[in-house]
Amino acid sequence: MNINDRVEKYININEVVPRDGLQNESIILPTKDKIALINQLSYTGVKYIEITSFVNPRWIPSLADALEVAKGIERVPGVKYAALVPNLKGLERALKAEVDEVSIFLSASETHNKKNINKSINQTYPILREVAKEALAAGKTVRAYLSTVFGCPYEGSISVDQVVAISEILFDMGIRELSLGDTVGVAHPSQIEEVLEVLLNRFSAKGFAMHFHNTRGMAMANVLKSLDMGIVSFDSSLGGLGGCPYAPGASGNLATDDLLYMLHGMNIQTGIDDNRLVKVACYIQEKMNRKLPSHSLRSGC
Ligand code: HMG
Ligand code: MG
Repeated sequence: MNINDRVEKYININEVVPRDGLQNESIILPTKDKIALINQLSYTGVKYIEITSFVNPRWIPSLADALEVAKGIERVPGVKYAALVPNLKGLERALKAEVDEVSIFLSASETHNKKNINKSINQTYPILREVAKEALAAGKTVRAYLSTVFGCPYEGSISVDQVVAISEILFDMGIRELSLGDTVGVAHPSQIEEVLEVLLNRFSAKGFAMHFHNTRGMAMANVLKSLDMGIVSFDSSLGGLGGCPYAPGASGNLATDDLLYMLHGMNIQTGIDDNRLVKVACYIQEKMNRKLPSHSLRSGC
């Protein structure tokens, strides 16, 4: 059977460029440019934008203006505006900023978790549970990220049992979706198959998103494998910007513009207008003042 006959015909794209894309950049984009970026994205047809993160600004200085960004953007009906939140202090700020969805996060690797959020995995659970509970009580939806699912820059391989156990705990917190992070871009399609096979035996494919970094050029192949296994939600970052400062070797995310080229070419809909999106990719490339990693941008602006 042809792959087109097996995969879903509509895929959700979660645009993470304003958060994952900008958090690790040496150029700190002025607040007004971040707002302009998000406003342009809102008119491309994208339904989900992760606009910033409410982490400690000392840890991520490039997103220190989270509240100003969230307050400054236009809210286009039909678009969900989300932000990363590590703890109750972050939630307090995110609620003030009136985000639609809160994304909690932790790592499957003990060492990366400690380096990224300064806690052991076990210390992190009660904090995230409290954030999820309060966010739900405030009428927000909650999403979660699990990082280093396919490998850790400090610990190497991660056991699938560990991923299953953490997923169980996160779903129990009432999250809408769990995004599985290949934080440093080490996964390959057979590993995607191995891990998803185990997870999808226990949880619905509709509960997961995939979050691929493209360090080794495997992201698109991994999307294809994930699609074939029933995943309908993908995180991507315009122009391929992205990376976690606490994960050495993590380079750009899967580029949204490249992803759309493949999906639309396969007759899979996303609701996003390619031409409008590429214009925004050109905008952010000009602002970053360097060639971005996306392949589609190589064909010019
Ligand atoms: P900590 O230093 O252990 O925090 O950091 P603490 O609770 O001990 O507090 C220390 C100080 O920070 C206090 O201020 C708090 O008020 C303040 P002081 O009394 O010293 O003046 N503080 C905050 N301020 C603002 N907002 C907050 C906040 N929390 C505490 N939310 C913490 C713990 C989690 C805050 C810190 O480690 C942190 O911010 N880490 C975030 C690191 C990060 O953002 N990493 C990148 C995102 S994850 C990622 O990229 C992966 C992903 O893309 C998926 C993938 O690719 O796999 C999602
Ligand atoms: Mg990431």
